[in-house]
Amino acid sequence: MVEGVSLERLAREHGTPLFVYSQAAMLTALAAYQRGLAGRRHLICYAMKANSSLAILQTLVRAGCGLDIVSGGELERAMAAGADPARVIFSGVGKTRAEMRQALRLGIGCFNVESRAELDVLDEVARDMGLRAPVSVRVNPNVDAKTHPYISTGLKGNKFGIAHEDVIATYRHAADCAGLRVVGIDCHIGSQITQSGPYLDAMDRILDLVQGIEAEGIAIEHIDFGGGLGIDYQGDAPPAADALWGQLLQRLDARGFGERAIYIEPGRSLVGNAGACLTEVLYLKPGEHKNFLIVDAAMNDLPRPALYEAFHRIVPLAPRDGAPSTTWDVVGPVCESGDWIGRDRALSVRAGDFLAVLSAGAYCMSMASNYNTRGRAAEVLVSGDQATLIRSRETAADQLRLERPLPPA
Ligand code: LLP
Repeated sequence: MVEGVSLERLAREHGTPLFVYSQAAMLTALAAYQRGLAGRRHLICYAMKANSSLAILQTLVRAGCGLDIVSGGELERAMAAGADPARVIFSGVGKTRAEMRQALRLGIGCFNVESRAELDVLDEVARDMGLRAPVSVRVNPNVDAKTHPYISTGLKGNKFGIAHEDVIATYRHAADCAGLRVVGIDCHIGSQITQSGPYLDAMDRILDLVQGIEAEGIAIEHIDFGGGLGIDYQGDAPPAADALWGQLLQRLDARGFGERAIYIEPGRSLVGNAGACLTEVLYLKPGEHKNFLIVDAAMNDLPRPALYEAFHRIVPLAPRDGAPSTTWDVVGPVCESGDWIGRDRALSVRAGDFLAVLSAGAYCMSMASNYNTRGRAAEVLVSGDQATLIRSRETAADQLRLERPLPPA
């Protein structure tokens, strides 16, 4: 069940692969942050790259979230979801001039700028429009988030942010630009972080910088600590959001920054464990070396195992009690050996059974592709005993729509 709705029923009604999300689970995850930050000036900007489906954005925006975006496309989605542009922040290392203009026209809350070159282009674009762009400089605090190297972003060798030692000079420069208005400072050290230590280290380094910047007479209105809090995929035990923020706020108070507006950019921790991907077992293929369970979901739907060797729990919807279980590699139909969803899983299943791939609410649908001309899955949002189809299954016609065939030979 997801809330009051049977997953088996949804799989039969809508077909598979099918993403199913619990609205209550998202709101519960959000409430932990809201409790943690209660009584403080704060803005929770959901990092919509984790899952940008409109109905999910609407759910979080209506519950009080701002949004963290990384492209003009995400900005359009944010507007379609009814977000207030003043509560949207624009992250990312490669914003184009067109994206800057689009965001400035709408009155975006803040640009999180990642390089001196970007700062200068933004200054020029804003001056051309007769505006001042609200900016924050993303600091690379050089702390180890102790997570997968592909999702670690706060170390010196990463492409993200401005090196700690160059930050004050960058602010001095920004303050002199007629097209810019300094409003904040930000960092984001990585994703799927399961310890509070890296956050505390990053906070200390950022607060040192705020002191240095303000000593130059440049006011910092908000401090943005990014996202990154992990979820339980495989017995991981990240701190709860309210406990983590309890700790961080204590540090903030101790250092005399308790009155400062706090921004955060959580993605995964708001939606990751609110979603599952349902898939049907197509074929059992036992072999001499390996047993393969071939299912109808694939790396185009669930790219995290192929990209990061990520673990997702896989459970049958209707366990066959007492039947002997076999160890399977759960794989999809895509023509790549990298197309696997789980390895060495003990499961007792038959063809036609449904499986649920868990913790699939974040970075699955939003990273899904059309590889092998597979249509992207459908999505259902559950609230109580109500299930709403929030995205139809993509057809081959949807995919062909943008293509232009050659004229007849
Ligand atoms: N803010 C910035 C600037 C970010 O780059 C990210 C994620 C977030 C916030 C949200 O981080 P979260 O709270 O979701 O950890 N595809 C990978 C994760 C990539 C994360 C990219 N940046 C995965 O599936 O694990």
